[in-house]
Amino acid sequence: MNEKVPKIIGEFQTIPDNLPADGQLKLIFQPIDMTTYWRRCGLTANFVAGFYSYCYEASDTKANSLSTIINELLENASKFSKAREGRIQIELKHYGNLLKVDVSNIASKNLRESFEAFVSKLQAENVEELYFSTLESKEDGDTKSGLGLLMMLKDYPVRFGYSFNEIDADTHEITVRAIINVEEI
Ligand SMILES: Nc1ncnc2c1ncn2[C@@H]1O[C@H](COP(=O)(O)OP(=O)(O)OP(=O)(O)O)[C@@H](O)[C@H]1O
Ligand SMILES: [Mg+2]
Repeated sequence: MNEKVPKIIGEFQTIPDNLPADGQLKLIFQPIDMTTYWRRCGLTANFVAGFYSYCYEASDTKANSLSTIINELLENASKFSKAREGRIQIELKHYGNLLKVDVSNIASKNLRESFEAFVSKLQAENVEELYFSTLESKEDGDTKSGLGLLMMLKDYPVRFGYSFNEIDADTHEITVRAIINVEEI
C-alpha cells in the first residue's frame, strides 16, 4: 500500500473529525453541472446558507454572508476542477454556533501546486496588503483575479483550512474548509 498522507495547511483540525455534529448536510455534483449553468453555484449557496441560518437571529444578514462565502468556494471548486472529472462535494456540519463548511474537488497536479503555493502565501503574509497588491496588478476582464479568497478573509470573520490529498500523480483531492461562528457574521 502506498497511501499518501494529506498535506494540511491552516485551520483544518480546529474541530476534531470525530466530534458529533448537531446537524449536517451533504451535496454532491459534477463540475460540469456548475460550469454549464454558473447560476447553480449561487442557487446552491443560497439554499445551503438558508437551510442553516433561519434558526438564528438576524438570519437574513447571516444567510447573505454565509451564502457569499459558500458561493466563492463552490465557484472555485467548479473553475479549478479537472474538466468533466471527479465530483464536487459540499458538506456542512454545525456545532452550536460554529459552522464547518467543507468543499472538495479534484484538481490536476499543476492546479494543486499553484493552489498550495497560493495558500502558503496567504498564511504567511498580511491579508490586507496581499489584497491591495493583487488588486493593483489585476488586469481588466480577468476571470482568475485571485481576489476571491482574499476578499472573504478581509471582509468576513471566516477561518480557512486546506487539505491536499494526492490520489495519483495528476489527480489531487482538494478540500477547502471554512469555519464560521454565526454569532460573528
Ligand atoms: N478549489 C480549488 N481547487 C484548485 N485551485 C484553487 C481552488 N480554489 C482556489 N484555487 C487557486 O487559488 C487561486 C486563488 O483563488 P481565488 O478564489 O482567491 O481567486 P480566483 O478564483 O482566481 O479569482 P476570483 O475569485 O477573484 O474570481 C486561484 O486562482 C486558483 O489557482
Ligand atoms: Mg475565486
